[in-house]
Amino acid sequence: NWSIADFIESETAKIRETVGDKKVLLGLSGGVDSSVVGVLLQKAIGDQLTCIFVDHGLLRKGESEQVMESLVGKFGLNIIRVDAKERFMAKLKGVSDPEQKRKIIGNEFVYLFDDEATKLQGVEFLAQGTLYTDVIESGTDTAQMIKSHHNVGGLPADMQFKLIEPLNTLFKDEVRELGIQLGMPESLVWRQPFPGPGLGIRVIGEITEEKLEIVRDSDFILREEIAAAGLDRDIWQYFTVLPGFRSVGVMGDGRTYDYTIGIRAVTSIDGMTSDFARIPWDILQKISVRIVNEVKHVNRIVYDITSKPPSTIEWE
Ligand code: XMP
Repeated sequence: NWSIADFIESETAKIRETVGDKKVLLGLSGGVDSSVVGVLLQKAIGDQLTCIFVDHGLLRKGESEQVMESLVGKFGLNIIRVDAKERFMAKLKGVSDPEQKRKIIGNEFVYLFDDEATKLQGVEFLAQGTLYTDVIESGTDTAQMIKSHHNVGGLPADMQFKLIEPLNTLFKDEVRELGIQLGMPESLVWRQPFPGPGLGIRVIGEITEEKLEIVRDSDFILREEIAAAGLDRDIWQYFTVLPGFRSVGVMGDGRTYDYTIGIRAVTSIDGMTSDFARIPWDILQKISVRIVNEVKHVNRIVYDITSKPPSTIEWE
């Protein structure tokens, strides 16, 4: 009779046996999967684990701090946080093509990860939050980027890791249950999927600091209101997008010419297909009023009512 408690016991024993007295490296993305792997490994092998968290500056509001606070503060994980915001912004300057943005963010991410990893001595294993479903198709975790990179032999010649993938027999709901049983906060365990390139693909076209801030602030308001309405577990993904065009509005006695924010909220089983979430009108209205009032340079809100296909979940 299989249970999560049994899994923790057998898996930590297995990890200890595999690892022995060697060191393990883990790339943290801030997502559920890599965080759960981190806490599980910490329980199994303690200080033999080192985590690298590349902060590309494209995370949601408060996210980087929250990851550090809960994983370092509560669980004592040994995390090297690489603050690479300026580096990423410089690389992305003038770039507006979505696939090129993805490529730049992905390459830079792996480059910085490898750079940190090379500085560490005597690491023999690389841990990854690969799920059972990831074995079949590519997932949404940034750890995935490290994986595909390392699998195609992109590692420096002197760095040959053996892989540890403790979640590769589990489904997402089992990983969440595992996180809860390990004592992780619900806010981390119930995090919605978040793409590796982060807010970089939610600012359509060229990324600027101003646009990033508008997306970050409007997204924060959306998340607050969705949580307040108790909808955060029913909606697969919900976020805001900045298409980048401006339109005419009126505020007080004056005409405005400001940005539009798109709200995307979808229900889905696996992200492969999706439908737009039927958020009640009054909640949408509250979100709309708050974003326009609280976020500068926004004067119009639209709600995306397309399914996937023909649309994708993200706008880029
Ligand atoms: P789309 O937009 O293709 O998204 O319908 C399906 C799921 O994948 C996520 N997504 C990504 N995840 N890197 C990622 O790690 C990416 O470049 C990327 N693009 C989309 C998206 O958030 C959704 O969950």
